[in-house]
Formats: sequence, C-alpha cells, structure tokens
Amino acid sequence: MIKIGTIQELREQLRPYRHQKIGLVPTMGYLHEGHLSLVKKARETCDIIVMSIFVNPLQFGPGEDFERYPRDIARDEQLAEKEGVDILFTPSVEEMYPSPVKTTVHVKGITDTLCGASRPGHFDGVATVVSKLFHIVQPDYAFFGQKDAQQVAVIEQMVQDLNMPVDIIPCPIVREADGLAMSSRNVYLSPEEREQATVLYQSMQEAKRKIEQGESDAFRIRSLIMQKIREKKLAEIDYVEVLTYPGLEPIADIGGKRIIIALAVKFGQTRLIDNMIFNL
Ligand code: PAJ
Repeated sequence: MIKIGTIQELREQLRPYRHQKIGLVPTMGYLHEGHLSLVKKARETCDIIVMSIFVNPLQFGPGEDFERYPRDIARDEQLAEKEGVDILFTPSVEEMYPSPVKTTVHVKGITDTLCGASRPGHFDGVATVVSKLFHIVQPDYAFFGQKDAQQVAVIEQMVQDLNMPVDIIPCPIVREADGLAMSSRNVYLSPEEREQATVLYQSMQEAKRKIEQGESDAFRIRSLIMQKIREKKLAEIDYVEVLTYPGLEPIADIGGKRIIIALAVKFGQTRLIDNMIFNL
C-alpha cells in the first residue's frame, strides 16, 4: 500500500493506471468493519483501490465534533493495507483547502430534510469535498454506505446533474452483533448509552414486522418507533421520519413505494443515525 498526502503525488501515482478500473472509498477514518466492507466490495470490480481519509471541516457545523472527531491514522493504515487498499490518500486540511473556499456544491431539495435540516450546510460540505475527491482521483467507481442513505441520495443526484463520469455503488449497513450500526462515533458512548443505543435498530425491526403484517400508515409507523425510543431514558430524538427514497418526500401511505425509515437520536453529546429502506 502506498501512502500519499498531496494531490500532485496522487495524480502522478495514478497516471500509469488510467486504463484500469479505479475505485474510490472516501472516509473520515477511524476505520471499522463498515468502512472495510466498502473496500471488500471495491475489490470485486476494481483493479486499483484508493481510500481517502480526510476529516472534512466543511461538513461540520459550529459546535459540532470536528475537533474531537476520533482519529488513529496508524491503526487505519494497518486496517486499510490488510483489507487490500492500494493507495491511501490522507491530505491535510491545508492541502484540500489552501485558501478559503469560494466554490461549493449545493444539491437542492433532498438536503432540506433529515440530517440536512438538523445540520445546516452539512451536505454542501459533503458534496463539495466528494466532488473535489472525484476530480482528484477520477475514479470509475465510488463506494458509499447506506448507513448514510441521504448522503448516497445527494451524491447520486450530484453525479447525475453534473455528468460526473463515476458509478456510485451503495453498500449495505454493517452492524454490531446486537444490531447497532457501526460508526466511528460509537466510541463516544458511555456503557449505559451504548446499551440503550440498540433501541434504534430494535425499533425499526419492530416497524418492519408491523409493515410485513400489513401496516401501511406512515404516521402510525413513525409513532410506534418514537414510542419505543422514548422508553430509553438517555435517548433524545432528533428526528424519526418515514419518507420516499431516494426522493425523500413525505408520504401518508407507504403501499407500493420505495421508502426509507430514518432516525437520528442523541445520547448525551453523541448523535447516532440509522435507517432501513423498503421496496413495497
Ligand atoms: P465516514 O463517516 O467515515 O464514512 C465513510 C463511508 O463509510 C460512508 O460511505 C459511510 O456511509 C460508510 N459507512 C460508515 N458506517 C458504515 C456502516 N456501519 N455500514 C456501511 N457503511 C458504513 O461519510 C463520510 O465519512 C463522509 O461524509 C465522506 C463521504 C467521507 C465525505 O467527507
């Protein structure tokens, strides 16, 4: 595995491989099995796998966890190499943003809801950095986790609207044994919060059972989930939504549609998100 910190060196390293299939796995590091599942998927189709590790200040709001976002580059290097990453790109903030940014990418509409509503400007930061990474790496394929389903919808829309020559490959959510979706932020949880955090997946599992039994009223599904989450005393709901996917429009009756159940729940300072997508 080659480790690279500058854009120029990355471009030089990739030049001989331009005729081969290049895959990009963008991350913010502190790698776990969720990130590594994207590399596994990339290995199926790509000759060269580039992973980026960059904690992108542009996608963090004031008062969010940019400064204390967990970082362990030595451990990440080992995990990435073991998983078969060919090039690990770890630029500094100065390398990615040498001067204040005047050009950003804004995806309209689908960024007004869910995490876009709770974290104003977040998806502009994501779309802008992912666009920069696509220009720097020029991958044939880029791999994203459905854990961040709204992020996938935003990136797919951006790629379509701006004719970016890259195939977006969404990959399934990887979970801990008790159902908690893997996340770099899970390390923030106290043991008690960690235990109660299983309610996110459990509440959606219960909703899934109800949907399988014929429930199709979005309001009732949402209420059921909220009720179940409120049983946990450390949980504070940010949002629970049942929307169309990938359009992210509100719906009353979910019958016959592709829908997403999306949750954001805070435990102390830690905000966790999770979702399930259904084709009904
Ligand atoms: P990060 O949170 O590090 O996630 C990097 C990629 O790993 C994303 O595509 C995310 O959806 C995926 N991922 C995280 N947890 C996962 C899980 N449990 N199962 C499957 N996939 C999972 O998302 C970002 O970074 C940033 O916004 C980024 C796209 C890198 C732009 O800065």
